Amino acid sequence: MIKVGIIGVGTVGKSVINILKDNADIISARAGVDIVVKSGVVKNLSKDRGLEIILSDNVDDILDDSEIDIVVELMGGVDEAFLVVKKALRSGKAVVTANKALLAYHRYELQDIAQDMAFEYEASVAGGIPIINALRDGLSANHIKSIMGIMNGTCNYMLTKMMNEDVEYDAILKEAQELGYAEADPTFDVGGFDTAHKLLILASIAYGIDAKPEDILIEGIQNISADDIAFAKEFGYAIKLLGIARKTNNEVELRVHACLISKDEMIAKIDGVMNGISVVGDKVGETLYYGAGAGGDATASAVVANIIDIARSGKSKPMLGFDKPLEGELKLKSIDTITSKYYLRINVSDKTGVLAKISKIFEENNISIETMLQRPASKDSANLLISTHIAVEKDIQNMIERIAELEFVNFKPVMIRVI
Ligand code: HSE
Repeated sequence: MIKVGIIGVGTVGKSVINILKDNADIISARAGVDIVVKSGVVKNLSKDRGLEIILSDNVDDILDDSEIDIVVELMGGVDEAFLVVKKALRSGKAVVTANKALLAYHRYELQDIAQDMAFEYEASVAGGIPIINALRDGLSANHIKSIMGIMNGTCNYMLTKMMNEDVEYDAILKEAQELGYAEADPTFDVGGFDTAHKLLILASIAYGIDAKPEDILIEGIQNISADDIAFAKEFGYAIKLLGIARKTNNEVELRVHACLISKDEMIAKIDGVMNGISVVGDKVGETLYYGAGAGGDATASAVVANIIDIARSGKSKPMLGFDKPLEGELKLKSIDTITSKYYLRINVSDKTGVLAKISKIFEENNISIETMLQRPASKDSANLLISTHIAVEKDIQNMIERIAELEFVNFKPVMIRVI
């Protein structure tokens, strides 16, 4: 019998306990051994959770328990979780975690500490979608050309609602929080950080690249307005928050930001709280993964899959997918050098000559306009909604700075990259 201890018995922890009980027959048959949750750690012991396991508020009750084979870390956060996971691995226990923030910062140290101990983390990216498994095992014969994913259900839910219904940003965020999708601090969701943590994990598996959140471009969806939504609709786009990893020669670009993407693309059709990830391999071509990226049972489905995998073999795979370093190391591409089409919303005082002055700055920065709309914003101001042909990021940023300084421009232009 395999015994499991869960550190952090919240929504996902409870689902892990329920799945191991509800599906005990198939799980035991698949693993070749019975798996039971022996104990759990919670912050507040006085709360009645109606659980049939031993509960404690001291992590050492699990870490020092010689009967526990697998520690499931669901406490979240970075520093304390790092200490707990290190101690578990050093005490010879296998670890399963859903903690993307922990991995975004410490995955390489944890890989070194784990060595041959099993350390699994399928639930850390896109909840119930087995994307780690797909990338690390199913696509291991390929050079990965790109990964492009909707990996935050909260943002996708909000953007879908903004696109389909006339609802205010704050009201939809509240709704997503009430539905239990959002992080404890929702700026992690809407600011793009949650997506960035997930992207960094995938980029390690695909490229062996070691980057921290501070090293990459991370933008959220906070500035997207009804005007941007109207522009997207008029020109046949969806707006999605994407995590993008793309390899060109010996460089990898990693970035998280809102994108305008043709509504005919498969990934543009992934709506609501669902997640979707497109991975392009040099041999397999495009593959697409779709499913629930959050929620107790979906996330626990991935946690339990890792537990079964460990129970089956007891032997670990290389945690991040490489048994030795890749020859010809890949470098992180500077964001200044990426190229894209861009959309800009420029709020201006509606006066003679404004458009001419703005278009001159476009020309001076070598940026060519593809489409343009002007919409009244108030009695004496207007929004210029402009999309460009392919341009270089540095030029766009310079141009935005220049335009923001003009006295008839009311606030810094909002920019969305076009895929
Ligand atoms: N807050 C995350 C989301 C939960 O909205 O997708 C899963 O990581």
